[in-house]
Amino acid sequence: MSANNLRWLAKFHLLILDEVDSTNEEAKRIVASDNSPNYLVVCAKKQIAGKGRNGRVWESQEGNLFVSVIVPKTASLEEMSQLSFVSSLALYYSISSIFQNYSEQSSITLKWPNDVLVNDKKVAGILLETAGANSEYVVVGVGVNVKKCPMIQGKNITSLFDEGLHFLDSSEVLNRFMTYFYKYYQLWIADQFIEIREKWLKRSKGLGQIITVDSGFERVSGKFLDIDFSGRLRIQVASGQIFHLNTGEVFFND
Ligand code: BTN
Repeated sequence: MSANNLRWLAKFHLLILDEVDSTNEEAKRIVASDNSPNYLVVCAKKQIAGKGRNGRVWESQEGNLFVSVIVPKTASLEEMSQLSFVSSLALYYSISSIFQNYSEQSSITLKWPNDVLVNDKKVAGILLETAGANSEYVVVGVGVNVKKCPMIQGKNITSLFDEGLHFLDSSEVLNRFMTYFYKYYQLWIADQFIEIREKWLKRSKGLGQIITVDSGFERVSGKFLDIDFSGRLRIQVASGQIFHLNTGEVFFND
């Protein structure tokens, strides 16, 4: 890793723990106990109670990356949710650059709202949470399957190891992720979600195609138009009506 790639350490502080329940939970505890936890990156070698989106468990096998970044809440919660797109874009660039470095072929895509797919299988996920008595902070939790791939029935999951990156370790993924997160976070702070949104859409899977979204309450099928500035998915159903979806699981009709 060149010094260039360690530039993010000028802004962020890094805390590496041997074992933790969840790096997001640890980040929230740090916020509750400290006066200035801004820009702290909490990373753990082992996570024993990893959390996924929608109350799910994040299977956290050793050798994978578990990291939570604490940033100040500088905008409305709606706008702060844009950070999940900042993060998935950063994951896209970091994982792409690793494949390039190791001269391995891969197809990397982004699946709404914030999954990263390698060869159409999920390799990373993001969980955003607020922290602090008055939600003064946002914790951006990122999990990447680096060495091990959890077996979850009915889910198409992989690890970077299984996709050919046999000599990669989680510290390299962390460095690269933070390098790009730093870059796109700065862009976002400069009020440029418009650029991040465009880059994210270019790399998203299923754009312009017919997809099905399961919100947990109902299933909606239609054309994936784009995302709005709150990160909601815009889908046009057969009647022509356009829905803005906040949350849900996307299924591709291919
Ligand atoms: C998802 O469901 O796709 C989101 C998964 C987020 C997992 C990461 S691992 C680091 C951080 N700590 C947690 O407990 N969860 C996030």
